[in-house]
Amino acid sequence: MANKNLTSAKNAKNDEFYTQYEDIQKEVNAYLEFDPDVFRGKTILLPCDDPYESNFFKLFASRFNQFGLKKLIATSYAGSLIVGRQLALSGLEPPPAKNGKGKGYVIELTQVSDVDGNGIEDINDVRAFLEANPPSELRGTEEYPPGDFRSPEVLKLRDEADLIITNPPFSLFREFLSWVNPLEKKFLIIGNKNAITYKEVFPLIKDNRLWTGATGFNKDMLFTTPAEAAFNGLPPTAIRVVDGKKYRRSPSVWFTNLDHGRRHQPLQLMTMEDNLRYNDHKGKVAYAHYDNYDAIEVPFTDAIPSDYNDVMGVPISFLDKYNPEQFEILGATQRGCHDLVPDTKKYNDFWEMRQNGERTGSSGNKTNENANLRQNDGHKNYFINAKGDVIQSAYQRIFIKWKEASK
Ligand SMILES: C[S@@+](CC[C@H](N)C(=O)[O-])C[C@H]1O[C@@H](n2cnc3c(N)ncnc32)[C@H](O)[C@@H]1O
Repeated sequence: MANKNLTSAKNAKNDEFYTQYEDIQKEVNAYLEFDPDVFRGKTILLPCDDPYESNFFKLFASRFNQFGLKKLIATSYAGSLIVGRQLALSGLEPPPAKNGKGKGYVIELTQVSDVDGNGIEDINDVRAFLEANPPSELRGTEEYPPGDFRSPEVLKLRDEADLIITNPPFSLFREFLSWVNPLEKKFLIIGNKNAITYKEVFPLIKDNRLWTGATGFNKDMLFTTPAEAAFNGLPPTAIRVVDGKKYRRSPSVWFTNLDHGRRHQPLQLMTMEDNLRYNDHKGKVAYAHYDNYDAIEVPFTDAIPSDYNDVMGVPISFLDKYNPEQFEILGATQRGCHDLVPDTKKYNDFWEMRQNGERTGSSGNKTNENANLRQNDGHKNYFINAKGDVIQSAYQRIFIKWKEASK
């Protein structure tokens, strides 16, 4: 048990990155534009959101009445690297830490009144509410520190909530998503782009039970932290300095099952013939048939041919433009996610070569279930067998097909 606590504390280290207010606001506004009553009468749980640190709390608390919330619950995590000595990111002053140690606590907001009489309910009124109704301490268990989302106390709050919204610990994303219970609960959470192809995530995307949010993910998100130590061990590419302030840069994506307008905008596309003649990709699109899947390679979303009725392999970034009325998702390369588009060939008798003619030492089984093309582009490593057959793998692909009704 003690070990589990240690692991949580260690993991927490690189989890202390906070979402910027503007990023949350932009995303939340998209749901409100689609349905102005999306939050009305709802109980929202912010399960990894110390109200004194989190902009999620700041936004939902200060717009409690405007959104028509029934209840807002936020919990803080005692294992946090910065709890008790944090900056008040939300504009609220945290309670003093005892012996330099933080606590896990819960705030349950059921009303925000215009305490200061300035005619609007805002963060000052939330502050007054918190002064009059201080947060309650969470106890945790021997296994989980107070405020751990897996603890029975927070689990109970999850059961009470209609909607779960947060940027959960990066290191526990899979566990967090299954804890959310995505088939039962509404949610809006942030995760890494790589999570799209996790076996716990992709089947939900395929079945339209989970999709990416309204903010496009072609640009990395920047997260703040008051704990300099949180940058330790990060590669330079994961750090960005803007106006002298250091941010963690991460290819993050919003995952949700709340509807938004962007996913109903149809993509405007050209025919295959017009694409081959006019598209901007300068000969990089040939619509070659894969060697091991019954599908064609479409390396750019805007090059999807409007008149091709069979299966196409498209990049992961397609999801940014995915409109479920227009396309059907059938599967993805790798990770056992392609029952509807089975791979037809294995490459165990191939070996991998560098362009300089040396073997890498890897066998062709490395490229099983990738989308492979019969080619050698002269740049990437390739695979060859004793007969001289040569293949190269495309990047990770999603298999899609036009929906009959959309054409
Ligand atoms: C990526 S940060 C995001 C914080 C906040 N949600 C935001 O976006 O501004 C993840 C937060 O989860 C907390 N955390 C880490 N492990 C946790 C756990 N097991 N249960 C609950 N919270 C946890 C961390 O302390 C950290 O504050």
